[in-house]
Amino acid sequence: MAPSFSLSSLLSFMLTILLICPTHAHKNVQVSEKVLYDICHNHADYSFCLKALKSDPSAPLPDLVGLTNVSINLADVATNKTLELIASLKSNTSDPLLASQYESCGVFYGNIAHIIEDAKKAWKAGDYETVFVKAGGILTYNVDCSDALTFKEASSLREANKEVYNYFTTLLRVSKSLTKDG
Ligand SMILES: *[C@@H]1O[C@H](CO)[C@@H](O)[C@H](O)[C@H]1NC(C)=O
Ligand SMILES: *[C@@H]1O[C@H](CO)[C@@H](O)[C@H](O)[C@H]1NC(C)=O
Ligand SMILES: *[C@@H]1O[C@H](CO)[C@@H](O)[C@H](O)[C@H]1NC(C)=O
Repeated sequence: MAPSFSLSSLLSFMLTILLICPTHAHKNVQVSEKVLYDICHNHADYSFCLKALKSDPSAPLPDLVGLTNVSINLADVATNKTLELIASLKSNTSDPLLASQYESCGVFYGNIAHIIEDAKKAWKAGDYETVFVKAGGILTYNVDCSDALTFKEASSLREANKEVYNYFTTLLRVSKSLTKDG
């Protein structure tokens, strides 16, 4: 019965390869233009998404895991810049109502900065499902900031907030492609 034993173990070995390989290959293969298209084509701002993901034109496109790292860092830079903008706008206004709206956005962005740190940790741990969930959670605070701003003087912050939104929806799409239903 030795031959049939080795045949069945060969079959189960091949089945294991078939089951394991697609996800692993998916994660580590260099991203192509087609993959970038798949990630960005439903983004609210397709060209923003594409440009962000190719933000280092001198570097070859990384794999999806590397692209997730790139996306996290772009979102992080935009968040920190927005926090600075909020601080400077707040110290620059004498209108208490406008100041309180900036203050609210400051609180929301404090939460966003905190959640990004969780997303970075999850990325390092290879937990892309959590990266995806964190990116989604951040959007709530982003929308809260947008809703808090009613003055036209807040237009620079509204714009920065929209850019942050675009970076996080890009991260959301990239990290989704690494989850089991991506
Ligand atoms: C992730 O991105 C950061 C910032 O660009 C970079 O310093 C770091 O080396 C990257 N991590 C890996 C493992 O590539
Ligand atoms: C953003 O600010 C946080 C908190 O100060 C810091 O830990 C992080 O490194 C900054 N990120 C970037 C990309 O500068
Ligand atoms: C602060 O106010 C000054 C004078 O009105 C203005 O020139 C400057 O652009 C303002 N800074 C910000 C961040 O809005």
